[in-house]
Amino acid sequence: MIIASLYHCPMDTAQIAHDMSAAIIIKKKIFAYEEDKLTTTKNESSVKFPERSLLIGCKELGIKPNDITDWVFPKPSKNISLNEFYFFFYEYLRINNFKNKKYFKNWFYKKVHFVKHHISHASLAIFSSPFKECAFLTEDGGGDLGDRRCFTFGDFKTNKINIRSQRTGYNGISLFHDYLTDSLGFSYFNNGKTSGLASYGTIREELDLKLSKLLSIKKNGIHFENKRFTISRPNIDKFNINAYDRNKILKSYPSNTNILQICKNYLPVDIAATGEFVLKNIFLKHLEKLRKLTKSENLVCSGGLFQNVALNQKIINSGIFKNYHFPMANSDAGLSLGAAFYVKYIKKKIKEPKRHLTPYLGPSFNNKEVEAEIKNFKLNFDYKKDKEICKIAAKLIVKGFVVGWFQGRAEYGPRSLGNRSILADPTKINSKLKVNQLLKKRDWFMPYAPSVSFEFINKITKENFYSPYMQSAFNIKNSFKKKIPAAVHVDGTSRVHVVKKKENKLYWTLLNEVKKINGMPIILNTSFNRHGIPTISSPRQAIEHALEGCMDYLIINNYLVDVKKNRFFAKKFLKIKSELLNIRDDSCSRIKILKKNKISFNTNKYKNYLSQIKLKKNL
Ligand SMILES: [Fe+2]
Repeated sequence: MIIASLYHCPMDTAQIAHDMSAAIIIKKKIFAYEEDKLTTTKNESSVKFPERSLLIGCKELGIKPNDITDWVFPKPSKNISLNEFYFFFYEYLRINNFKNKKYFKNWFYKKVHFVKHHISHASLAIFSSPFKECAFLTEDGGGDLGDRRCFTFGDFKTNKINIRSQRTGYNGISLFHDYLTDSLGFSYFNNGKTSGLASYGTIREELDLKLSKLLSIKKNGIHFENKRFTISRPNIDKFNINAYDRNKILKSYPSNTNILQICKNYLPVDIAATGEFVLKNIFLKHLEKLRKLTKSENLVCSGGLFQNVALNQKIINSGIFKNYHFPMANSDAGLSLGAAFYVKYIKKKIKEPKRHLTPYLGPSFNNKEVEAEIKNFKLNFDYKKDKEICKIAAKLIVKGFVVGWFQGRAEYGPRSLGNRSILADPTKINSKLKVNQLLKKRDWFMPYAPSVSFEFINKITKENFYSPYMQSAFNIKNSFKKKIPAAVHVDGTSRVHVVKKKENKLYWTLLNEVKKINGMPIILNTSFNRHGIPTISSPRQAIEHALEGCMDYLIINNYLVDVKKNRFFAKKFLKIKSELLNIRDDSCSRIKILKKNKISFNTNKYKNYLSQIKLKKNL
């Protein structure tokens, strides 16, 4: 049996696509990858189906589309005729062993499976976890047009998936966070910015009361009383041909909502802090109620809401369940593999794997392909053996250089976990600034995260949660906050990536080479992409980033490229702007946006908050 799963469904033209991905399962061999990492367009919606990720998956696993025995799609939003599917299989994929249309019809009903959105979310969480039985919880903005649920809760027990509670519609807790994010001026899908900004703000009691009134716990989940008065207007000025993102143009601030009206007199940092506080409080109250519906001590969570690592930390530390699992791809990018797992489980009734599923499920490139690409660019390079390359990389990182690190199979999911990563020294506060200056150009309030070897994790935090996919924030011990300042957020937390030798031997070796130099197997690790594009996939993209000046050194497999030896750069003055100045500037520019969009607000109250701004000093 060879299962291929696509999200979204081919020929489903009514669905506005995003987070497209493809997955293939052949016994214990798995491939899963996002389409936008291959098209290099964020929130890709212009392709018909995840063709590139499907075909590169076939290449990675050494099969052809003809070899695939079972096809899996999400439930479509409209009726798609057999003729359209015939066209898809025959014309697009050149699967030509259908003798006639009648044969195709029989084949189709036996071999094509449709799995609903939230079942796919739940299945990824269940089948990527190490648990034999568990409760599951899915939360997102409202599924898709084939499954409009926004919340499900149930359990996986004695090989059965039972749903115990669910909610349908655009009215759940995830939508509350979407509205909050929108009210702050961040475009659609940028909820992480709200969570990052929250650490700089103050929880305002009055605002807490007003926002809390919009959320209530019902029998079928948390209800968000939402009102949208206007939708956002397209902002064509945001069109960027080198970093195209439809949401920045079509779904960006401002849209006038009840949350915007409630929040408009408060500073952005305080809106974020209070909104996050409200969300976490009601979520945990609801989780306590859900706990009574199951006997399981294990909880697995999936759906866009659980990309919020600060929320995940609260869940883990709540003690409501004993053990937790958050998969590597919580957004809709995880749906293809979730649906493929579900079909495999329906057919085989076997729960695999028995440990955390590896996140290294994407494409890889061998040394021959890498060397050919480096030579295409006519670059100077050195070839080194595995151990040697780790030693060299460790020395460069500790010296303060920014290193592009490209190894093995790419990661599935939003986090780079040591195979498509940009690495730097977390002990130097300037590393954050340098990475930001060279390639990230992130908002000033967004934190960077460290990779830490499994054996060292209890030295830097008291929290005991295995985090192989960077799914949770951790409170960093006071003694370590000053030791790794570039990888600790202003609130003293860090989104730690824990590395076990058996999960990623090369990256673990690199961490230990760093330890040999400075005593700490810790590296600042961020995704390999310049601002505005998805994480890169291929050696060519890595080289293009290096030549653009995004790093000091590039290491692909066993090849080392010293960027200075290949091109000269104009020395640019690093403009350092303090975080306090950033908070003030952002708060002032919001006044202009509110005025420009004719949203009335209390100027005196706002100015009063503005005068109270002080920077938290947790570090
Ligand atoms: Fe979803």
